[in-house]
Amino acid sequence: MSEVTVIIGDGISEEISNSAMKVVNYLVDDLDFDIKRAGIDVYEKTGCLMEEGLLESVERNKVALKGPIGTPIGTGFRSINVELRKKFDLFANIRPIKTYGDFSRYEDVDLVVFRENTEDLYAGVEKEISKDEMHSIKIITRGKSERIARKAYDFAVANDRNKVTIVTKANIMKLTDGLFLNVAKDVGAEYPDLETEEILIDNMCMQLVLDPTRFDVILTQNLYGDILSDLCAGFIGGLGLAPSANIGEHHAIFEAVHGTAPDIAGKNLANPTALILSAAMMLEYMGYQDESKRLNNAIYRALQHKEKCTKDLGGNASTTEFTNYIIENL
Ligand code: NAI
Repeated sequence: MSEVTVIIGDGISEEISNSAMKVVNYLVDDLDFDIKRAGIDVYEKTGCLMEEGLLESVERNKVALKGPIGTPIGTGFRSINVELRKKFDLFANIRPIKTYGDFSRYEDVDLVVFRENTEDLYAGVEKEISKDEMHSIKIITRGKSERIARKAYDFAVANDRNKVTIVTKANIMKLTDGLFLNVAKDVGAEYPDLETEEILIDNMCMQLVLDPTRFDVILTQNLYGDILSDLCAGFIGGLGLAPSANIGEHHAIFEAVHGTAPDIAGKNLANPTALILSAAMMLEYMGYQDESKRLNNAIYRALQHKEKCTKDLGGNASTTEFTNYIIENL
């Protein structure tokens, strides 16, 4: 029997985590869940941001499925998501964006964003110079740029992808983004069968909006990757359909790209698909290849019937109903 840690956070986290566990339970019978909680609710009850034993559980199980966790904006504690990624050195944030159904004016989008997950402005090196001047330090290192680049190129080879697009703002941030770009290009030179393209982040946003189908694997830094992946989610019908994996050398945490959706929390309205797709990525990572394929196919089939989907996709179903519909399609 294997065990994965399930981290339940805030907002819609509980509803969609329950959906994902229900689907995985239906599909795989030798997998247990160790459920741990984290976030604002836990903090208000206990004074700690994470339930006791959470980190030990992830350390032991090496794999976790995580619901979204809230982070106060502008003030308050630092992001638990960022802490977890740093603690387990989950350097590769992999975010597939694929058209599953008729939920947007774009068709046939199939790209994957590789976002460096541990440095950049997310390093949290901020300084108050005076009440009227704040600094944030952008940190980019050769080693961390190289390992995310290698991960992206290796993925491209393993998944029959043709092109890697490196996204920076190296015309302005010549040292930091310049280093990332040069390291990524050096890695790319080791993969002569793949096309390497470099593009500036501002142009990238426009090119994506004009035609996202011309992109394949996108390799970028932490902040640009965060913004681009929400932008890309818009091409396929929104955040309810965008899964992600945070992968390190020894640990991996799978989660939806979206946040806690406080506006719809507790109403049985949330779309569980992004977290269930993340669970499919988790199953593949754990070696349950067939189960992962079955799950992806079932999600695909379920999404062909718009009226049976959740409200964000134009349907009438509740979270529970759509979860059951995916199970019916398994
Ligand atoms: P959000 O992703 O929670 O919501 C943005 C919009 O998308 C809202 O209108 C929401 O209703 C909708 N939405 C998101 N997920 C949905 C789903 N599964 N089904 C249907 N509609 C969905 O982003 P927001 O409002 O900026 O952030 C809220 C909180 O989430 C913040 O505290 C933020 O820090 C946190 N957050 C956590 C993340 C994580 O745990 N990995 C990632 C992003 C944000």
